[in-house]
Amino acid sequence: ALRGQFFDITQTGTRPDELLANARHHEDGLLFLNDGIIVALLPWEEGCLHLRGENDYVDYRGKLILPGFVDTHLHYPQTEMIGAYGEQLLEWLQTYTFPVESQYQDSSHAAKMSAFFLSQLLSNGTTTALVFGTVHPQSVEALFSAAEHLSMRMIAGKVMMDRNAPDYLTETPEQSYTQTRELIQRWHKKGRLNYALTPRFAPTSSPELLAAVQALREEFPDTWLHTHLSENSAEVEWVKSLWPESESYLGVYHHYKLTGKRSVFAHAIHLQDCEWDCLHRTESAIAFCPTSNLFLGSGLFNLKQCHERGIRMGIGTDVGAGTTFNMLQTLAEAYKVAQLQGYRLCASEAFYHATLGGAHALDLDDKIGNFLPGKEADFVVLDLAVSPLQKMRHANSRDIFEKLFVLMTLGDDRNIWHTWVNGKCVWTRDTLEVAA
Ligand code: GUN
Ligand code: FE
Repeated sequence: ALRGQFFDITQTGTRPDELLANARHHEDGLLFLNDGIIVALLPWEEGCLHLRGENDYVDYRGKLILPGFVDTHLHYPQTEMIGAYGEQLLEWLQTYTFPVESQYQDSSHAAKMSAFFLSQLLSNGTTTALVFGTVHPQSVEALFSAAEHLSMRMIAGKVMMDRNAPDYLTETPEQSYTQTRELIQRWHKKGRLNYALTPRFAPTSSPELLAAVQALREEFPDTWLHTHLSENSAEVEWVKSLWPESESYLGVYHHYKLTGKRSVFAHAIHLQDCEWDCLHRTESAIAFCPTSNLFLGSGLFNLKQCHERGIRMGIGTDVGAGTTFNMLQTLAEAYKVAQLQGYRLCASEAFYHATLGGAHALDLDDKIGNFLPGKEADFVVLDLAVSPLQKMRHANSRDIFEKLFVLMTLGDDRNIWHTWVNGKCVWTRDTLEVAA
């Protein structure tokens, strides 16, 4: 068992009354685990009766324990290019991204960067992510191997692209189909790993490539679909010119039956009405990536509209267009994006999106996202006050909601004390190391 302060959201839903009813806080609680699975979360007075010995628990008193963070969109090969100066999306891809991604044909580079990437996730309290590789199968091979070693719940896929990118990163639709199929057979549903079909975005896909994606989705209907949608105005115009017959950007994906419950579309900033409707009808999900949208000057995601339309949504860091792996900093930027549009993102809603809401967007809310019995034991232990400013500020915060709001406003990776995956502590700030 573990003893400490716990906060989670027990049910899905983003209305203020739902969040209030579903928020659960134990100032002094005990979390019981068995073989990587959560057995119970109880208040100390009740839980202590079930202890085998007086000190039969890991003592995290003074720390706050949250469900592990869920990052619904990022690119592991772009770890090494965060902070590429000056360009918006399309020029940024050509100038910086494609050259960096070319390095992942080298398996040893991919292995080295996979290990570094996972340690970045864990040191930021992120225990599950939906991840882009590069076009090279060896890029995801390396990532899946490293994640398997840590028993992390992870969804990833190799990029599929066959046009409008340099020759060294493009493939034929046939190659894309065959290599993706092999990866699905090797990795999909292996332990806690899952496969996402990953066409980069409509502009780098020919009709034949999207038909290959559709064929794979029909053959493997429980795989995920992960791509970009309507991020940047020039991109939207380009899609119009490449697919003149399509009524909208999302219409291109929908035509190939790539919308649906396990489809995750990153960004979704410049949407038409019919696209919001289609996302809703098909139960597709959006990854809202505030640091990326601000960094690339892409635009402001309309969170209010997303809720009014009842669309599944999770938070993504979108590293390397995003500027941090840290979910606290990402939530702070999400708050500001909402503020600019007159929407208040409260702390319970923000942490909901980072945990259970992200799990729901990924259709994994039966497995992760909170401390209910039967959920997988992935969680993060936070130190609320790691700087003089945080200490001073927390001294006069009244309740858990204010503490959480200050945590996301002032917090960063220093606040992540320990990270647990599958019932084991796999990362600790004391040693700054991944224990595998
Ligand atoms: N659209 C297509 N590819 C990318 C990418 O790598 N990053 C972002 N932010 N948008 C994209
Ligand atoms: Fe992205």
